[in-house]
Amino acid sequence: MSQPARADYGVDAPAAVRNLLIVCALGVLSLVSRVAGVWDRESPFALLGRPLISAGLSCGVMAVWMIWSSKYGKVREREEYLDLLAWRGDERVLDVGCGRGLFLVGAAKRLTTGRAMGIDIWQAEDLSGNQPSAPLQNATIEGVAERVEAQTADARKLPFEDASFDVVLSSAALHNIYDAGERETAVREIARVLKVGGRVLIVDVRHLRQYAQILRDAGCDGEQDAARSVQKLLSHVMRLLTLGAVQIGYVMGRKAR
Ligand SMILES: C[S@@+](CC[C@H](N)C(=O)[O-])C[C@H]1O[C@@H](n2cnc3c(N)ncnc32)[C@H](O)[C@@H]1O
Repeated sequence: MSQPARADYGVDAPAAVRNLLIVCALGVLSLVSRVAGVWDRESPFALLGRPLISAGLSCGVMAVWMIWSSKYGKVREREEYLDLLAWRGDERVLDVGCGRGLFLVGAAKRLTTGRAMGIDIWQAEDLSGNQPSAPLQNATIEGVAERVEAQTADARKLPFEDASFDVVLSSAALHNIYDAGERETAVREIARVLKVGGRVLIVDVRHLRQYAQILRDAGCDGEQDAARSVQKLLSHVMRLLTLGAVQIGYVMGRKAR
């Protein structure tokens, strides 16, 4: 079978993108029918149309951003985030919720003798085309297949010994664990498998303060940043548009004990 020429890291939350596009289409329909004078201005349809137009436009902006970010923006952002860590090249790296290998492959490209392991439960609703073969396929396209492994495992019960990794990464994954206690378990698992002196970088769209607090409790200190984004302006815009539901940012730490 022929390989695609370019790595494809999928579209995040494809069902959410589809729903946003449906609301956007309804908003556009309302706008067009209003401009065309299809409905009487005082009719219930016209009254309903006003909020639908605003909602449709907001949802359209959000959907376009999610598609653009998934297809183009997130590879650039990945590099900016990975630049935050000083790489030696011999690290043993774990990517928790690796999906199609965005950070896994990005990390592997910075390794020489090191190795990168990705784990995931491959939830279709979180990422388009999410399956165990996808990260290795992308690693092959990017020329780092020999440095990459992926296996099926849950973030809440990592199948690794304590202190196994020099770097643990997680991008846009942990917010998909909806129960706060289970998210805490996942972050504690990340701290557990990290070596003393090892570094953790969690990039996510929610719950950053919670992650930072749990990491502190689990003995990781320094370099933590609970609510910042490499792309600060975008982060503020998304926060505004979603009334605070989306807060793009990262938490970084070093295991001290
Ligand atoms: C939006 S995707 C992000 C994938 C990848 N990290 C990236 O940045 O492109 C979220 C990923 O988290 C995974 N995930 C969700 N809950 C998980 C869990 N409990 N354990 C492991 N992976 C999980 C999903 O299967 C999905 O691949």
